[in-house]
Formats: sequence, structure tokens, C-alpha cells
Amino acid sequence: MTEIILTGCNGRMGKAIADTVKASEGFTIEAGVDINTLPSPDFHVYSDINGIEDPHGVIVDFSHHTLTKDILDYAIKHKLPVVVATTGHTEDELSLIAEASKSIPVFKTANMSLGINLLVELAKKASDILKDSFDIEIIEKHHNQKLDAPSGTALLIADAIRDNLDRETEYTYDRTARREKRKPEEIGIHSVRGGTIVGEHEVIFAGPDELVTISHRADSRRVFASGALSAAEYIKDKKAGLYNMSMLLSEKIK
Ligand SMILES: NC(=O)c1ccc[n+]([C@@H]2O[C@H](COP(=O)([O-])OP(=O)(O)OC[C@H]3O[C@@H](n4cnc5c(N)ncnc54)[C@H](O)[C@@H]3O)[C@@H](O)[C@H]2O)c1
Repeated sequence: MTEIILTGCNGRMGKAIADTVKASEGFTIEAGVDINTLPSPDFHVYSDINGIEDPHGVIVDFSHHTLTKDILDYAIKHKLPVVVATTGHTEDELSLIAEASKSIPVFKTANMSLGINLLVELAKKASDILKDSFDIEIIEKHHNQKLDAPSGTALLIADAIRDNLDRETEYTYDRTARREKRKPEEIGIHSVRGGTIVGEHEVIFAGPDELVTISHRADSRRVFASGALSAAEYIKDKKAGLYNMSMLLSEKIK
């Protein structure tokens, strides 16, 4: 049984996790944490993680990146593994995550879905082959309540392509402020916000007279919820370190 402490339990993803736990075996939510303390019939909801005494299990965080420091401090104090599923972290918060992973297991990925992680691998492969003659652009679309832009997933894809390319790259988020041609080293990253779109990502390789597009669409939050639960199960008995979805997938494939 994998016990979960769910931070952000009353948000969209928190509710998707609670529903997925109810429908699956092997997981239980020990406690929820949210500034919105709307009660749950299945677990106690705390307004502050420090209110949970004698905690067990894995912290799964779908709250807000500004809560990262408090969660990591608590996890280190109680020696609990953490799945950091929030996005939009500052450089300082990313450093805290790296530092915490020296004493506890931390799983971090901007996207918990299997399909997006496959898209990343395909985009790396495509950039190997097309890099010299194709322009790379990423378009992401999300619902109108999303706070950060571009999405953490768009940056995850861009970073994977950048690290794979053996040349200088520059991210371009806005072309309205300048009047100049696109430079070959650019990776354009564009955000669309509207309605209830769960999450769409498209990587375009635009070459002379041809276009290659790799895309992924999440139809429900269940894909992220089941990925986050797999991540919790994967790190619960791991030693301290920083883990991600490609590590989980390669262990599963072995
Ligand atoms: N890694 C992934 O696969 C993935 C997928 C979807 C969303 N996300 C990320 O997860 C996060 C949550 O997304 P969401 O769509 O569920 O958002 P949401 O706004 O619906 O839910 C966030 C919840 O966190 C709570 N919260 C915010 N600040 C808090 C604080 N300081 N203390 C306690 N609770 C607090 C809010 O009250 C809310 O209930 C975002 O960062 C989003 O980008 C990641």
C-alpha cells in the first residue's frame, strides 16, 4: 500500500488524484493539505502541512510552486519522499529541490503523462535528424485558469531539444516587439489560453517545402493523476536523489 499526503487536494489535479485513488487498489490518501479547507469525506484536510503530526508515506504536491520550500522543509524533517508535480518554479526554488534531493528522494517532472514523455523522446530523435535545415517551434494550449506561461511541459520539451542539439539555441516567446527575421538558433515557444483545454503540446519542425509535426493532447487529468501515483510508488523506497519520468519509464521497460 502506498500512502499519500496530497498537497493542493482541493484543486483540479488534487481532485483528479483523489478520484483515481478511489478507483484503484494499492493507494490511500493519509491526509490532504490546501488553503481551501473544504472537507473531504475520505481524508482530513489541513490548511498547513505542519499541522500533520507523525506523517507516513509520500508527499504528492499539486498545489503551487510557492509552497515548495515549506513542503521540502517538512519532508526533510520527517524523512518523507516527495513528488513535485507543480510547475512555474523560480531558479531559487529549483535550487531548493536539487538541495533537498541530497537528503530525501524527490521526483520532479513538469508532465506526468506517458504520452508527453514519449513525445519528448520523439522530438529529440527528430531534432537529431532535422536540426540543420528545420526551424523548431513549440505551441502549447491550456485552460483559461492556468497561471504560468509558457507551460512547464513546453519548457521541458524545449530543454530536451536544446540539450540534444549540438549548437547555440535561443528561446523566443514573443515576436511582436521586434522587426527582424527569425534566426536559425531560435526555438519559438507560444502559449494559447482558453476554455477548459486540459493540455495540448505541438512541436513543429518547419523545413524547406515540408513540415513535420509531433503532437500530444491530454483529454483528461486522469493521465497526470495516474502518472503521479506511479511516481509515488516508484520513489517510496528509493534512496535520496532526484528522479524523473524517463528514469521511471526505463526501469519499467527493463
Ligand atoms: N506535472 C504534471 O503533470 C502537471 C499536470 C497538471 C498540473 N500541474 C501543475 O500542478 C499545479 C496545480 O494545478 P491545478 O490545475 O490543480 O491548479 P489548481 O489551482 O486547480 O489547484 C491548486 C490547489 O492548490 C491550493 N493552494 C495554492 N496555494 C496553496 C498554498 N500556499 N498552500 C496550500 N494550498 C495551496 C489551491 O487552493 C488549490 O486548491 C500547477 O502548478 C500546475 O501547473 C502539473
